[in-house]
Amino acid sequence: MIVLSVENLTYDYVTKAGITHALQGVSAQFALGTLYAMTGRSGSGKSTFLSLLAGLDVPLMGEILFEGNSLTAKNLASYRRDRVGVIFQAYNLIPHLTAMENVLLSLEIAQCSKAERRNRARAALADVGLDETLWKKYPRHLSGGEQQRVAIARAIAPDPHILLADEPTGNLDNENSRNIVRILKQLAHERNKCVIVVTHSREIAEEADVEYRMSDGVLIG
Ligand SMILES: Nc1ncnc2c1ncn2[C@@H]1O[C@H](COP(=O)(O)OP(=O)(O)OP(=O)(O)O)[C@@H](O)[C@H]1O
Ligand SMILES: [Mg+2]
Repeated sequence: MIVLSVENLTYDYVTKAGITHALQGVSAQFALGTLYAMTGRSGSGKSTFLSLLAGLDVPLMGEILFEGNSLTAKNLASYRRDRVGVIFQAYNLIPHLTAMENVLLSLEIAQCSKAERRNRARAALADVGLDETLWKKYPRHLSGGEQQRVAIARAIAPDPHILLADEPTGNLDNENSRNIVRILKQLAHERNKCVIVVTHSREIAEEADVEYRMSDGVLIG
């Protein structure tokens, strides 16, 4: 089932140095239960595209439709809060909160009832295979691969339909990268999520069900 479709998205960055046409008419469709890889050269517009899909920014022109309904100024905040989880290369965990507390906070933000939060956080941390002995640790006492698992747990705990990951394995070694990709693939196939991963890794792109290539702000294939 198509959960997200984008039509003719354009986006410009305007700086003193001039205008960059980062996206120049991007159209695509994304289904539940599918792992997508987004590849393309540095500067081709991948992160820009992902930030629009995440609702972190709005397109200059074009439209994003979630379950057939256009994202508007009115529904953008609830879309961002309830429908999408985002995972970054640099993990971006809150340093003074433990692994468990990072996940609990995302559930609080998602307005999950207090009674449910702890169970859901435990389930999410278990889903990403993070050993229970690590749940009380602070991010600085976890390895990169462990921190990225916490970041994924944080993103999936509120149970969004869409997971967006911008180079989630960019800071990880091969073994950790493969583990993260396995988790993302399971989320797509076993939990019926729409997972979109920006990556420079050929190996990861080949694990995906569908690869979209970005070139100079346009999607090819
Ligand atoms: N905040 C910004 N201000 C001005 N220009 C920007 C900004 N962010 C990105 N750009 C420009 O927009 C274009 C697309 O950038 P984007 O970050 O989307 O590329 P990318 O495909 O994610 O690259 P990478 O693989 O290096 O992460 C590039 O030309 C970049 O220089
Ligand atoms: Mg990028």
